[in-house]
Amino acid sequence: MFYPLLFFIVLHGIFLTCAYTGWSNLNSTPRKTIEYEDNHVIMFKEEGIWNYSTMLIREDLGLLVLGAREAVYALDINDISVAKSKVLWKVTEEKQKECTSKGKHPDIDCHNYVRMLHQMNSSMMYVCGTNAFSPTCDYITYSDGQLKLEGKLEDGRGKCPFDPFQRSSSVIVDEDLYSATSFNFLGSDPVLLRTSPITLRTMLRSFNEPSFVYMDVVPESEDSPEGDDDKVYMFFSENAVEYDFYNKLVVSRVARVCKGDIGGQRTLQRKWTSFLKARLDCSVPEPSLPYVIQDVFHVRHEKWRKSVFYAVFTSQSRSTDQSSAVCAFNVTDISEVFSRGKFKTEVTVEMSDVKWVTYNGDIPVPRPGACINNAARSLGIKGTLDLPDKTLQFIRDRPLMDDAVRPITGKPLLLKRGPLLTRLVVEVVTASDGQSYPVMFVGTENGYVQKAVNYDGEIHVIEEVKLFQNSEPIDILRLYQNQLYAGSASGVVQMPVSNCSRYSSCLDCVLARDPYCAWDVTTLRCSRLPTSPEDPKGNLIQSLKDGDATQCPTSATVEPKIRTLILGNNVMLLCRADSNLAQVNWNFAGKPLPYSNRKYTIYSDGILIYNASANDAGLYTCTSVEQAKGKQYTQTLAIYDLCDRFPVVVTDKIKTTLGILTESYTTSSGLHKTEKPPSYATNQSSESKWVVMQVALALISVMVACLLIWNVYMGHISPFMCCGRQPIKSHRNLPEREYMRTGSDAVDTKQPMVRLCVTTNSTIEATSFHRNTSNGDTSTNNHISKYITDESEI
Ligand SMILES: *[C@@H]1O[C@H](CO)[C@@H](O)[C@H](O)[C@H]1NC(C)=O
Ligand SMILES: *[C@@H]1O[C@H](CO)[C@@H](O)[C@H](O)[C@H]1NC(C)=O
Ligand SMILES: *[C@@H]1O[C@H](CO)[C@@H](O)[C@H](O)[C@H]1NC(C)=O
Ligand SMILES: *[C@@H]1O[C@H](CO)[C@@H](O)[C@H](O)[C@H]1NC(C)=O
Ligand SMILES: *[C@@H]1O[C@H](CO)[C@@H](O)[C@H](O)[C@H]1NC(C)=O
Repeated sequence: MFYPLLFFIVLHGIFLTCAYTGWSNLNSTPRKTIEYEDNHVIMFKEEGIWNYSTMLIREDLGLLVLGAREAVYALDINDISVAKSKVLWKVTEEKQKECTSKGKHPDIDCHNYVRMLHQMNSSMMYVCGTNAFSPTCDYITYSDGQLKLEGKLEDGRGKCPFDPFQRSSSVIVDEDLYSATSFNFLGSDPVLLRTSPITLRTMLRSFNEPSFVYMDVVPESEDSPEGDDDKVYMFFSENAVEYDFYNKLVVSRVARVCKGDIGGQRTLQRKWTSFLKARLDCSVPEPSLPYVIQDVFHVRHEKWRKSVFYAVFTSQSRSTDQSSAVCAFNVTDISEVFSRGKFKTEVTVEMSDVKWVTYNGDIPVPRPGACINNAARSLGIKGTLDLPDKTLQFIRDRPLMDDAVRPITGKPLLLKRGPLLTRLVVEVVTASDGQSYPVMFVGTENGYVQKAVNYDGEIHVIEEVKLFQNSEPIDILRLYQNQLYAGSASGVVQMPVSNCSRYSSCLDCVLARDPYCAWDVTTLRCSRLPTSPEDPKGNLIQSLKDGDATQCPTSATVEPKIRTLILGNNVMLLCRADSNLAQVNWNFAGKPLPYSNRKYTIYSDGILIYNASANDAGLYTCTSVEQAKGKQYTQTLAIYDLCDRFPVVVTDKIKTTLGILTESYTTSSGLHKTEKPPSYATNQSSESKWVVMQVALALISVMVACLLIWNVYMGHISPFMCCGRQPIKSHRNLPEREYMRTGSDAVDTKQPMVRLCVTTNSTIEATSFHRNTSNGDTSTNNHISKYITDESEI
């Protein structure tokens, strides 16, 4: 039983290894990660309401009509936090009882999950809900700012699933509803249904435990030399019949029907005569079971032959190594498989086993499954009712095509390991080079949206944005006028498709390769591209395919930030690269930081220096190196000047007057020349001021002392916290090396010095930074005063 499985995998493996350049090419790290906290989304949710999974954009009314569990909302499309109206649609007590008595869970299954919302005409919308395992539809209107359910309850079987966890899909074409879902309570009768004056459905056994994903119409009658009909395409997954040995091998499918189909006369009465299905292939470059389709987006082109279906697939094996892929399918390619491809046929082998093999016999005329076209009309066949039995019997028995539909370029556009992709939408953006690029927004099962572009086969994930605080799956995505709308179990968010102001520098802006954004040389900002081609383009730098940022002006020099080094403490120096693709390097005193040294811990947003000693004083430079298309871009992100404290100087006068008060100055050491810090005494002009100051300082010090004693008493700080946890009785007992200074610090050595070792807990800092860079030199005049109390003095 296992051989065919192995064979399949090995065959796939060999074939794919030859065909593809590899997984690594397509598996891309998002360049930026935007966490929920940094993301200013507009949110809508209501207390007690869940499962916001249905959306209808009403451009004419400026509304986002939102379907949730037992509620429908009319939200302002420009600001979805504004709910203009709301209707509740609850299940009746009777229905709830009925549902529970059938063994369904009262709190999970026996609610009304709104699962379908369509616009019927200018005044009416059509809404369907699961209604406690008894699907029901109704009409809904919006007038005078009010949503209203019409109460014309209609049977929702075949339109809306019974089970809220079952997928379904539907589309309105010329006021007819096409829907694909289960027709019965057990979910064992899946149908593709058209509700119209002549209701049409699929035959039994057209599907094999399907999961319906998406449906849309392609206007194939336009400019058709064959006089072809429009077609409705549907995407789903189901258990394979063609790999008959596999127990439940799921495959992805595309199926289609003709819009003009009204069923057969004797054979296939009130059934589709044009239903054909084919396998959809989205093979990843390593041996695996076929990936399973999860969502589709139709990128329409004014010429339907240039339209593309983008689809999300996820791995089938429930192994730990989950992965997803995005594939794009050319509508023309799909159409060709149905209109010219071979059929599969069922043959009986070895008594009872059936096998689906390529059909090589004669194909009747008109071609089975074809829409009524000029050729058929010339044979006197005006509609599907006129189709000969031979054609109908053929299609009834052989709805499956032999060929699979292969993705454009034969491979996925995007691959991703880890949290699975769930939904996608695609927008085609015209960039400053005049070219159009499809930008994919792909939702994940943990609340992110990934924004990705394919540049000539190179996948570039511009960013991943966390939309929901909880790691919940994105259940629905919609695009409208540069806004992205996403729904989940807990709420709905609205976010601009791009926020160019997140790109802080020219380098960041250009290397982002975001087709919505370009660096504006005049305003020195990363700006949204003009949305209409008539707008002046200005002086913009954008390089999407090449990621070439060499045109960027050299960035301004980075000002060093001054940090005080406290002996024995840990020092955190922050520095975060703009990009996940950049490598951050730290230099200390002109040399690369010895990372192997256990003194340092490197984080994504900085370094931690343990147990700082005087040797750690100096200049730390953080640079990022980002590689794009073979070029390296180096950028200085931050410079830290880690300054050892000045020895604490206590003059005799202060000592005698204040007893416990000291002052210290901190200067920068390292590369910058430091001015002599102003001496305490010379700062004072008059004696009276001096006395006032002393009194004030004495008061402060008493307060500080009280605070300190209280702290020690309360156990907030320990008197033994100083200096690498060496207990000190008196600062005079400190080991010499703890406070010996090297170098030529500008200290008035004539004054008797007392060197104190104090933890930050017991210091009050009065910090002032003065920076004078007007004449271009780096002379610093920084002045940090500390009023220090030492417990030993108290
Ligand atoms: C864009 O990003 C900036 C900087 O992070 C933020 O201040 C601003 O609110 C964002 N704008 C929108 C519309 O999200
Ligand atoms: C919209 O459709 C409904 C139901 O099909 C119908 O009753 C109504 O007359 C239609 N309204 C318009 C303006 O066409
Ligand atoms: C799809 O195929 C048709 C015919 O081969 C071609 O004209 C069209 O450009 C293709 N579209 C895309 C997006 O590749
Ligand atoms: C509805 O939302 C609840 C609460 O988050 C979630 O547990 C459940 O899975 C959702 N149900 C469906 C059908 O999506
Ligand atoms: C901190 O460094 C000093 C020498 O610089 C050393 O004596 C002391 O043991 C270190 N403390 C810790 C906790 O590593």
